Amino acid sequence: MNENKNRPETTLVEGGRRKEWRRKLVNVPVERASTIQFDSVADMKASKAGLGVYRYGLQGTATHWALSEALTELEPGAAGTTLFSSGLAAITTALLAVLKPGDELLVPDHIYGPTRKFCDTFLKRFGVATRYYDPLVGGGIAALIGSDTRAILLESPGSLTMEVQDVPAICAVAREHGIPTLIDNTWATPLFFPAIAAGVDITILAATKYVGGHADVMLGAVTATAEYFDRIQTLGWDLGHSVSPDDAWLGSRGLRTMAVRLKQHEAGALRIAHWLKERPDVGRVLHPALPECPGHEFWKRDFKGSSGLFAFELKGADAAARAAFVDNLRLFGIGYSWGGYESLAIVVDPFRTVSTPPAPSLVRLHVGLEDPEDLIADLAQAFG
Ligand SMILES: Cc1ncc(COP(=O)(O)O)c(C=O)c1O
Repeated sequence: MNENKNRPETTLVEGGRRKEWRRKLVNVPVERASTIQFDSVADMKASKAGLGVYRYGLQGTATHWALSEALTELEPGAAGTTLFSSGLAAITTALLAVLKPGDELLVPDHIYGPTRKFCDTFLKRFGVATRYYDPLVGGGIAALIGSDTRAILLESPGSLTMEVQDVPAICAVAREHGIPTLIDNTWATPLFFPAIAAGVDITILAATKYVGGHADVMLGAVTATAEYFDRIQTLGWDLGHSVSPDDAWLGSRGLRTMAVRLKQHEAGALRIAHWLKERPDVGRVLHPALPECPGHEFWKRDFKGSSGLFAFELKGADAAARAAFVDNLRLFGIGYSWGGYESLAIVVDPFRTVSTPPAPSLVRLHVGLEDPEDLIADLAQAFG
């Protein structure tokens, strides 16, 4: 169990940097290994895989343990963290660890597209039914829980349409029913939303985004309570998931500066969101810290900050006009993912099956670490 007493910013610096792993270096080095050599047959037979135990490359080396331990220490109430080769691998393995054929899974309608695809294809074939729910359902989730419901997935805010969920209310209902909750916490990270303390059992990061922070690594992490951690870690090994130590090292490297980067992302995104709000050619600005964002009240109640990702409506713009706006941007790149130091823009056409009213078409921005005034000048010329 995580008994870390430091504040989060200190944990980012200290987390996982055990003396026995880094020796006299500041950073735990990249340790590459498949075979680990034991001292004797007895020693080999006695070894039990786990954090800090050299056994086989699949179970990691100090490079991996350092990142896992730091991420666990950022989540009060967590028992451990399992690393994955992408955020999507982290999500799918965590779901498989708590579901079996015949079960039903509840998923918010604003969920990240590839997660939705996994539910609608693989999980369906595996015999798990997915029931989509309105992300703003809150405690009303109780009415959706049936005799086969075995897990509830959350994503708050949704990474396209930004609705903030009432996480504590959903988790309280789930707990009453003995159902585990899993959250995609990539937008907030544990710095802005320590999910396990809010009542979630399993919290997932696409560490590709703010943990890596430099748009050059694919990485995922699942942090869980004692009830679920072993199950997830063991399933990861059983499925043969493995993370390159170089990538784990890049994750730790990114983590050290995550708090300062997030502060800059936050300030830049807020400056730009407020600037957009004043423009006559902009409709709603869907930024969790702005009152017009659905679920803003839960952001205000539960979150310690906001990150760099938000979306807005271009008033009266059809698909071609939205594409032309994004194409006109010079400092904002066009591309998948987000969370790096650089700004990005995409056009979003959300796919929904249950939420009303239908989600609007949007432009989504990831505000990087550039001077926000330069980004505003770029947006202004693109409107022109
Ligand atoms: C909210 C969210 N979750 C998960 C993922 C998946 O992460 P990865 O790209 O590392 O597989 C993404 C990627 O864009 C995302 O935006």
